[in-house]
Amino acid sequence: MDTITIALAKGRTADSTISLLEEAGIHFPDFSPKSRKLVFHNNDRSVKLIFVKAVDVPTYVEKGAADIGVAGKDNILESEADVYEILDLKIGKCHFAVAGKPETRLEGSQRLTIASKYPTVAMKHFQKKGIPAETIKLNGSVELAPLIGLADVIVDIVETGTTLRENGLEVIEEIESISTRLIVNKASFTTRSAAIHELINKLKSVMER
Ligand code: PRP
Repeated sequence: MDTITIALAKGRTADSTISLLEEAGIHFPDFSPKSRKLVFHNNDRSVKLIFVKAVDVPTYVEKGAADIGVAGKDNILESEADVYEILDLKIGKCHFAVAGKPETRLEGSQRLTIASKYPTVAMKHFQKKGIPAETIKLNGSVELAPLIGLADVIVDIVETGTTLRENGLEVIEEIESISTRLIVNKASFTTRSAAIHELINKLKSVMER
């Protein structure tokens, strides 16, 4: 039997996705959120789950190492992966925003320095606005950058706004809504069309319940 490989990021996204798959009748008897295993099969081995780092999900799908991926829109945009985005799973909702100290003004700036885990997203946004900018790639604790003068502003995901608030920063402008999306490898979408559509339709019907 042909096996469909799904790349998931461990953690909350994987747990929600697996619950969705279980509701759709696709069961993974060996899965437990505490397990350190990276590969799981369903009962009839028609679906294989692989656990990868969230930021790498689009790459696994683009390169065909996975047929399907469940990835945050943030990581999809930053990777610029050439994949089909098929379904909004409506989990992990948050948004991309430009944030900084309350007195920060974007317009009229000579050249802005932006700290971000998402330098591609940040650069594209400021290019679109016609504001000269340079990016500094950070891997976390991005909110620190404007506080210690490493950057003028940050581009980051905002969910509850708590991290910004507790560090005296504000949203200066919202960029785009983010949620978890189902992405598909372009070749698999053609060569494994029937199996992929069957799985997507099962997920859709669970979501519509
Ligand atoms: C993310 C993001 C913000 C925070 C937003 O960081 O980069 O820092 O969550 O959430 P909030 O609006 O609910 O406060 P993450 O928790 O991934 O930590 P990091 O600093 O290690 O990237």
